[in-house]
Amino acid sequence: MNDTAGIALTGVSKTFVGRGRTVEALKDASLSCPPGSFTALIGPSGCGKSTILRLALGLDSADTGTIAIDGLTPEKATKGGVTGVAFQDAALMPWRTVRRNVALPLEVLGRDVKAAQDSIEALISMVGLGGYEESLPGELSGGMRQRVAIARALVTHPKVLFLDEPFGALDQILRRQMNIELQRIWRETGSTALLVTHGIDEAVFLADRVAVMHAGPGRIVEVVDIPFERPRSPDLFTSPDFHALTDRIEGILHGK
Ligand SMILES: Nc1ncnc2c1ncn2[C@@H]1O[C@H](COP(=O)(O)OP(=O)(O)OP(=O)(O)O)[C@@H](O)[C@H]1O
Ligand SMILES: [Mg+2]
Repeated sequence: MNDTAGIALTGVSKTFVGRGRTVEALKDASLSCPPGSFTALIGPSGCGKSTILRLALGLDSADTGTIAIDGLTPEKATKGGVTGVAFQDAALMPWRTVRRNVALPLEVLGRDVKAAQDSIEALISMVGLGGYEESLPGELSGGMRQRVAIARALVTHPKVLFLDEPFGALDQILRRQMNIELQRIWRETGSTALLVTHGIDEAVFLADRVAVMHAGPGRIVEVVDIPFERPRSPDLFTSPDFHALTDRIEGILHGK
């Protein structure tokens, strides 16, 4: 096992058995993400992407194989505030203001929220929500809510950041803006990032490596290196090299 990796999965399998149905959600999945790297996971619905995240967060346990997060077990990493996570539906507490939603992981970990107030304010402004600190989630747009979720994921200054389709609900224009924002935020924080996405463009724009998965059983079939220099500008989206890579990944997704 590679203990020095930011994220290391080695031979991870997970089968769900229930109500006459057995699903091999993951079969022998291995993935090693260097510290500070950005990896995207892409694959069809049901191929085990969220399962990888849930196992890496210690929300569920693998049947076989090992997972190390910054050299720790997933449970220890989560309890120690090593990991931050943002899910697809933002999952904000509707009765909490933006400021108090962002502070939530600190409360859960029993940290001093007052002492972290400056860093909370800085995060809120980093995701472009300065002035909305006292707003409730119901008063924000979908994109703004997702930015709150990203600020919340970052509030513990996690070494490892998990993002499960954080921009799933956004239109194409806002999604592009958020991709550029996320690149900037990730570069500023220096965290090891693992992003689940259905967007090939988004994966290639953001990631150092794209891990392509297939379903039935869920597995990683290929990891594609993305060589573009950083910071990447929006012009990349229209470059021929970019399209060559998205086409290649599309082919792998379709088993070609
Ligand atoms: N708690 C569970 N109990 C039973 N089956 C589960 C459970 N969690 C996931 N599965 C099954 O495992 C498989 C993988 O699910 P997972 O949520 O990881 O897919 P995914 O790749 O994230 O898909 P999507 O892109 O739709 O979010 C699916 O077939 C799903 O039905
Ligand atoms: Mg999922």
